[in-house]
Amino acid sequence: MKTTLSLLFLFLSSLVQGLTYPKCDSHDHGSTLQVFHVFSPCSPFRPPKPLSWEESVLQMQAKDITRVQFLVSLVAGRSIVPIASGRQIIQSPTYIVRAKIGNPPQTLLMAMDTSNDAAWVPCSGCDGCSSALFAPEKSTTFKSVGCAAAECKQVPNPSCGVSACNFNFTYGSSSIAANLAQDTVTLATDPVPSYTFGCVAKTTGSSNPPQGLLGLGRGPLSLLSQTQNLYKSTFSYCLPSFKSLNFSGSLRLGPVAQPLRIKFTPLLKNPRRPSLYYVNLVAIRVGRKIVDIPPAALAFNPTTGAGTIFDSGTVYTRLAAPAYVAVRDEFRRRVGGKANLTVTTLGGFDTCYTVPIVAPTITLIFSGMNVTLPQDNLLIHSTAGSTTCLAMAGAPDNVNSVLNVIANMQQQNHRVLYDVPNSRLGVARELCT
Ligand SMILES: *[C@@H]1O[C@H](CO)[C@@H](O)[C@H](O)[C@H]1NC(C)=O
Ligand SMILES: *[C@@H]1O[C@H](CO)[C@@H](O)[C@H](O)[C@H]1NC(C)=O
Ligand SMILES: *[C@@H]1O[C@H](CO)[C@@H](O)[C@H](O)[C@H]1NC(C)=O
Repeated sequence: MKTTLSLLFLFLSSLVQGLTYPKCDSHDHGSTLQVFHVFSPCSPFRPPKPLSWEESVLQMQAKDITRVQFLVSLVAGRSIVPIASGRQIIQSPTYIVRAKIGNPPQTLLMAMDTSNDAAWVPCSGCDGCSSALFAPEKSTTFKSVGCAAAECKQVPNPSCGVSACNFNFTYGSSSIAANLAQDTVTLATDPVPSYTFGCVAKTTGSSNPPQGLLGLGRGPLSLLSQTQNLYKSTFSYCLPSFKSLNFSGSLRLGPVAQPLRIKFTPLLKNPRRPSLYYVNLVAIRVGRKIVDIPPAALAFNPTTGAGTIFDSGTVYTRLAAPAYVAVRDEFRRRVGGKANLTVTTLGGFDTCYTVPIVAPTITLIFSGMNVTLPQDNLLIHSTAGSTTCLAMAGAPDNVNSVLNVIANMQQQNHRVLYDVPNSRLGVARELCT
């Protein structure tokens, strides 16, 4: 009897654990990968000591400023020196997926980045890399890519090493030198043979994702370009909220099993920045009112790179200053109303309240698709519940560009479908678990 009971107890507690703990090493299946927040218990990159709510908000804001500067520098085609921050901040994008590289496979947790094309991983012997490294010498399928290969012409600043193609580039505040290589990359259960990626040999700065980066952009050398036949340039993701770190989301590759009931807006292409996913944001509604935004703050302009992009690596949506001010002022008017509530700030957020509020919804109006953001995608609350902020901001002060970035806090618990062959992007609500 006693054993039966304790067995039952064991069974029940493992059931309960199964429900509460994320299943970190449950296998990715088919063409679907689990997506974890970097602060998730499944992430080796979570801070050693949990950050306070304020610390994590401020840290994510600081990281975002570098990220937005980086995106703007991509658009402007020139580098912008990121503001140095006092503390070492891990600036790598917010969500990670598991990839297996080589034969026998070595597992790496790579950052997902929709605004970058290439993939790169830190390789053994890397100078300046932290964390786990990929060991090419242990893989029987690893090959260096030679200088004469076509791929060597697609990388930034190529140079010829000992017959192998070397290149270097900047990412956020990091500069990275890598060797071009090929190996089998396995995503969920799909092996992609001879996948071309950068093997990082040297890095400086703190933006380099510790276990590498998986670029989901659509330019040359991207995952999409290299898996045309397999995934047909189609993928979707559901990003879990960072309030429920025990949840994981999913990255679904290929046209199979994508949602059918989803609203679409056309994807626009900027020839200067072929990897970024531009859409046409035409207006913004706060509650029922369409706010007054000068058209130039939203307009797509392929020559200057102005417009609106979806990005998986920025945390809080950034709008060009005139657009943000219009949204914020209407939001404050609706919240404050007759009560005349005091507005406070928290780091880069300028619309915070220290009393409970009733907030209006905000609707992003794209060509052909309206996305109404529920409160969870708009507001952040301190753990103690005493502070609530509108989780959006204007473009950083020193960034002189009209780039609106729809960021991951605003995408959480939605499925975002990138359908490149049909030139459209879809959004539908979904609770990622
Ligand atoms: C995640 O799960 C752990 C273990 O069950 C639990 O201690 C923790 O409170 C959970 N965190 C959240 C945010 O639910
Ligand atoms: C980047 O490549 C260029 C050209 O090959 C080289 O001169 C430069 O030293 C490299 N920079 C780094 C940081 O490796
Ligand atoms: C989006 O909202 C606007 C303004 O409320 C409305 O005029 C338009 O018909 C809506 N579009 C779609 C596709 O629902």
